[in-house]
Amino acid sequence: MEITENSRYGSDQRERVINPELFGLISGGLMIDTIIWEDRQKTNHQEAASCVHILDQTKLPLETVYLECTHWEQVADAISRMCIRGAPAIGVAAAMGVALGAQGSKAEDFSELSKELEVICQGLSKTRPTAVNLFWALDKMRRAAESMGNLTIAQIKERLRDKAVQMWQEDIDICRRIGKHGADLIPEGASILTHCNAGALATAGYGTALGVVRAAHSQGKNIRVYADETRPFLQGARLTAWELHQEGIPVTLITDNMAGHFMSRGKISVIVVGADRIAANGDVANKIGTYTVAVLARENGIPFYVAAPRSTLDLSLSSGADIPIEERDPNEVTHFHGYPIAPAGVVAAHPAFDVTPARYVTAIITEDGISRPPYNESLAK
Ligand code: MRU
Repeated sequence: MEITENSRYGSDQRERVINPELFGLISGGLMIDTIIWEDRQKTNHQEAASCVHILDQTKLPLETVYLECTHWEQVADAISRMCIRGAPAIGVAAAMGVALGAQGSKAEDFSELSKELEVICQGLSKTRPTAVNLFWALDKMRRAAESMGNLTIAQIKERLRDKAVQMWQEDIDICRRIGKHGADLIPEGASILTHCNAGALATAGYGTALGVVRAAHSQGKNIRVYADETRPFLQGARLTAWELHQEGIPVTLITDNMAGHFMSRGKISVIVVGADRIAANGDVANKIGTYTVAVLARENGIPFYVAAPRSTLDLSLSSGADIPIEERDPNEVTHFHGYPIAPAGVVAAHPAFDVTPARYVTAIITEDGISRPPYNESLAK
């Protein structure tokens, strides 16, 4: 296998620069492969152990490096450290983590394997609390495994691998459908503001909010994206600007505090963001700062659209008040790439998400179409 080894090798997690096109890896063949499943056969050089390659987004845009995960714990670690992030991508990674864990199991019967799978699911479920896609994916894998009591251990391992790869493929298809529905809402000549990264990098490929952008662009519409830089993790600057720039879709990077200015000057015609969890009443949890953008949009009479797969809906929650908000390390606010940008010892806070009340959301775009208020009715349908 011809792989360019990166000089940086972690102690328990290897990093490689790979070009999926060179190998028989299960890759979308898309411009950006967020995550790749590799089946490995036993050879003279290596044990049979499948591998999940994860594009390490903490290194973008400076380096394109894939983490090579051969144990589910490495996938969990990659999710926690936000090497892979974005609600749908987290879900796919979790599913692949379960499949990888199953492949590594030495269980001899179904009950033993079920217990191991439960430990794996529990471990993966503790990585990030807000994006419901994580729990949705784990639930799907759990339920799939539960229905396999009549199969051999080898068959179960194979079926779980197939299930995870299927969820990955479906995510790409779902994003394309979201893009198609959403593109109808984008007028010719639109300037589209987005917050965070809800693009190919946040999904198995293509993206949700950026899926809408991609679809509108490929329809020949003359559009421009305004990308909020999205402090403190800079998903807008590092990821959204990167993927749009690579694809030749016009993008202007702005700092978060410029959004209101551009809206008030008539520079923004429409806003499209992704979501991490949407409650039954249409309240939307998304990257911290989304709420501010939504309120400014209302003040300036600009439509505010949310693009998300149905797996992001959590109809068990009546409102956004019940959505758990991830608190991340305040060092991610006081430091950038390990470099201090605030006085030593200063107290900082880091809620990673906020909740935008449904009254600010003009419409929610899913793979099934466009939902409008009242969301209690339209989402339930
Ligand atoms: O903390 P992150 O980078 O995982 O947050 C990502 C977002 O908030 C995205 O907007 C959301 O997950 C939708 S991704 C299609």
